[in-house]
Amino acid sequence: MKPRLIWHTTKRIMIGLCCMFFLGCSENGSNAQSSPASSPTILASTEKPLPAELKEGETKFNTFCSQCHGPQGQGTNQGPPLVHKIYEPNHHADMAFQRAVAQGVRAHHWKFGNMPKIEGMVPEDVSQVIAYIRWLQRQAGIF
Ligand code: HEC
Repeated sequence: MKPRLIWHTTKRIMIGLCCMFFLGCSENGSNAQSSPASSPTILASTEKPLPAELKEGETKFNTFCSQCHGPQGQGTNQGPPLVHKIYEPNHHADMAFQRAVAQGVRAHHWKFGNMPKIEGMVPEDVSQVIAYIRWLQRQAGIF
């Protein structure tokens, strides 16, 4: 290979690597493993009033979940925000919410410790809570 050609190829590889680096970083924005509680919370917009059909989900969320996951799912020092990119439907589908409530969660994304299983809820209650959380996530522009 001529020196010019080698330089050309090297340049292309370097540009390629840069692109991969940037894409890699922005891809899922939140490798929560390496950035636990300190990652900034995305604030849900409070401008839009909560649709009436989600009120019950909100009440159940406030009864069973907000103690750790915070008002409007913004997180507390006991648990992570659920209005967060890693909990969007593609990463944590509705089943993950049902499972979390039914079986608890072993700490793996954050450093808050385990989530205990939540007594006193049937799957329909959890579905209402999920609908409420999905609405909050949409308001925050997460998906
Ligand atoms: C006693 C505190 C506490 C309560 C109450 C609680 N959670 Fe959690 N939850 C946590 C913690 C801590 C985690 C993070 C575990 C980890 O490190 O990934 C978590 C994680 C989750 C996850 C992610 C599961 C996964 O697969 O990664 C979901 C979904 C969830 N909680 C939903 C809920 C819902 C819905 C309620 C209410 C019905 C609720 N939680 C009540 C503490 C709590």
